[in-house]
Amino acid sequence: MANGNSFVIRGGNELFGKVDLHGAKNAVLPMLAAALLTKEEVIIEDCPHITDIDNMVELLREVGGEVFVEGRKIRVRGQARTNKISSRLEKTMRSSMFMLGALIATVGEVRLSLPGGCNIGARPLDIHIDGLSKLGAVCEERDGTVICHAKKLVGAKILLRYPSVGATENLILASVLAKGKTTLINCAREPEIVSLVELLRKMGAKIRGEGTSVMEIEGVDELGGASITPVADRIVAGTYLSALAITGGELVLRGANKKDLRTTLSAIGNVEAYADGIALHARAKRPRENEWLFEQVACDLTTGPYPLFATDMQPLLCAVKCFSSGTTVVRETVFENRFSHLREMQKLGANVRIEGDVAYLSKGDLHPGEMVANDLRGCAGLSVFAMGIEGESRVVGTKYVDRGYENFEENFKNIGCDILRE
Ligand code: EPZ
Repeated sequence: MANGNSFVIRGGNELFGKVDLHGAKNAVLPMLAAALLTKEEVIIEDCPHITDIDNMVELLREVGGEVFVEGRKIRVRGQARTNKISSRLEKTMRSSMFMLGALIATVGEVRLSLPGGCNIGARPLDIHIDGLSKLGAVCEERDGTVICHAKKLVGAKILLRYPSVGATENLILASVLAKGKTTLINCAREPEIVSLVELLRKMGAKIRGEGTSVMEIEGVDELGGASITPVADRIVAGTYLSALAITGGELVLRGANKKDLRTTLSAIGNVEAYADGIALHARAKRPRENEWLFEQVACDLTTGPYPLFATDMQPLLCAVKCFSSGTTVVRETVFENRFSHLREMQKLGANVRIEGDVAYLSKGDLHPGEMVANDLRGCAGLSVFAMGIEGESRVVGTKYVDRGYENFEENFKNIGCDILRE
């Protein structure tokens, strides 16, 4: 029954054409939360139309923000006035956790059911809660609900036991209006955090050290309005580069930031790319035609906090390395359950052996078939994998890909992929 939750992909086509990249989902989400910290208008440009952002916009409206979505521009006016968030929404995605910092800083109390999100791991919030407690919030987790409240947050020195991206962002959002100075030690360094700080600084926040492991935030009395264009989505860009590595062809990724793609490009191996300040120009020969530049070579990959290899790129690189000669060793250190896509690739002939957090991959006798996705980047990885296999394959679970990719199948169809949703 065609319910729109599957991609049907006839692999083997080379990819040629231009792709426009938009603001990074994982920068826009905390920026939307940051907009609640001021009564004035905050404008976020170049936002992709994806369900995680649609849900975050609904969350902002629920807590009292006035939000206007005009094409790729989102305008937010008005501080948070209530902390009541419908559990339906909270459970639909992990991103509601960004409300923790923003609501504590404005409304003074937040009740959040432990957010839902991808099935890639337990995803606890202990680092968030530990940091908020050090800022003076009283937090407890009870029956799957996080309850935090604080009269006034006071700056503190906070050592994060792990450089959690979300915890770093929540603690930045909670401390920009706190009394005094906050120091975050061992904080996350992702480009999306640097982009968030760029917005907060435009709003009047006093922050130093973004992009490094130590950040200092001097609390201010209030923040003003601002507008921002978020950093480009490096994971979406990496998805196109992974597909190109498998199919061969030439792509122009407009808006791609080559600096954020260095690790991805070196891991992929057989894509040659140069940047002209506006776009990234990339080309690759199909792995089986090994006569040009690099043949698709096996390598060892270990995911980790930025600037190490991004865990969100792991499913995409697994797809690429299933077309490589030799055995690739992939170690997933960030999430404890992020190999489900490999079982699916195995169904189509990939040689996969998993031992704990390590997977050994090599090219098998690949053939078309049906695969079932379990999470956002896994769905993208399975789709890219199918693009390299002649014949008709099916990927079930397009609802996942819609969380982080705008018009996934249309964009790939426009560059030559034989893909349709049914
Ligand atoms: C962000 O998730 C991203 N999501 C994820 O992208 C990304 O995979 C992840 O960072 C790592 O880069 C958004 O930005 C919306 P973490 P986040 O806190 O913040 C553990 C995608 O595909 N941890 O850095 O939830 C956690 O369980 C998504 O867009 C704790 O133990 O990631 C995980 O094992 C998927 N306690 C590890 O740290 C905590 O309090 C990294 O999580 C917090 C995290």
